[in-house]
Amino acid sequence: MSDQKLVLLGVTGGIAAYKAVELVRLLQYSGLEVKVVMTEHATEFVGPATFRALSGHEVALDLFEDPGKPIHHISLSAEPDCFVIAPATANVIAKIAQGVADDLLTTTVLAYKGPLVIAPAMNEAMLTDVATQENLALLQARGVRIVDPENGYLACGDVGAGRLADIALICEAVVAELSRCKDLEGKHVVVTAGPTQEPIDAVRFISNHSSGKMGYALAREAKSRGAEVTLITGPVGLRAPEGITIVDVSTAVDMGVALEQAATDADIIVCAAAVSDFRPVEVSDRKLKKDSADVQALETIHLVENPDLLARVCALRAAGSLKRDPVIIGFAAETDAVVANARKKLASKSADLIVANDISRDDIGFGSDYNEVVIATHDGEETIGAAPKQIISQEIFDRLIDHL
Ligand code: CTP
Repeated sequence: MSDQKLVLLGVTGGIAAYKAVELVRLLQYSGLEVKVVMTEHATEFVGPATFRALSGHEVALDLFEDPGKPIHHISLSAEPDCFVIAPATANVIAKIAQGVADDLLTTTVLAYKGPLVIAPAMNEAMLTDVATQENLALLQARGVRIVDPENGYLACGDVGAGRLADIALICEAVVAELSRCKDLEGKHVVVTAGPTQEPIDAVRFISNHSSGKMGYALAREAKSRGAEVTLITGPVGLRAPEGITIVDVSTAVDMGVALEQAATDADIIVCAAAVSDFRPVEVSDRKLKKDSADVQALETIHLVENPDLLARVCALRAAGSLKRDPVIIGFAAETDAVVANARKKLASKSADLIVANDISRDDIGFGSDYNEVVIATHDGEETIGAAPKQIISQEIFDRLIDHL
């Protein structure tokens, strides 16, 4: 059986559709097999016969056209190793972002679960409109790779942003997605995420503002790169990525038990959880009442330090207790001296890599879909500029690979 990778190229109705013809060739020169799916409007710009001749395959056009495969969008979505849509109109981007499936291309995208690359092309006013920008941000946050359009002459005669990116860049993005896909195959990645909750009584607890978004993005990224993933998560309101093992915990102690168990056969451990540093010594199993003798217990809560889970797995590794000698990375949530504090944590916890972020900024970090981080290793540090957490996750794993 051939191990040639298959790329599905979606062509939508814009002037730049003619450039997709050249993209077919470029993808083929990169050793990829290409099949094409077109929207009805795209056929107004380029005839399917051109794509049929170049790709050597029938061009998929209609939901009900293939009598051999009655559910065409499902069979089409199951095949490709990567799906690239170039050019992508504002309309198709909006439909994909909202899950609208009203033709063969959009139903196929909705059913498809692999890496997706979108190269938008449109008039500048449409591109910069808040609706398009929000749709693009939403897709990017879900892990879709957007190949940004260029500045230049547009079909409408304007000069500005919105011209389809250079097809070499689109091809590069597809190749990058395909190689990124499999580099964690056979590896067990363990991720901790979210806050912990340390109970005071039956209704109250101590916790923090962690949303869990960074940890979930990391788990999703590891899964999409082929890893077996265990996500140990504190209480968050997020939908878990599909196809991974989820361990729900609430306290730091429970998170520690789950982490030590999962760590035994881990290849990579990512401690992204915001573990509460302290927990109440006494926990009441009923609600403490403020107008009673309980008031003193509410006014003065004695705390005891929680175990440091990251330091603990690093110590287990140093003692040779973890089978696969995993790469271990931690996070550092800082409000000042971000780099200095990250370096301090790298050394004190014996981790391989610390990802530090400035939580005093309200545009990134806790609760936000964006982050800007400094990655500190024993060799130095590197800043990754503000980007969606899914993109930050890609960057983190790209660097982690070198440590395996
Ligand atoms: N961490 C942990 N267990 C703890 C505290 C922190 O595993 N009890 C991990 C976090 O998951 C993170 C790293 O240690 O990967 C740093 O967490 P952070 O909250 O930034 O720092 P602390 O170690 O708690 O130190 P401080 O609060 O003094 O900054």
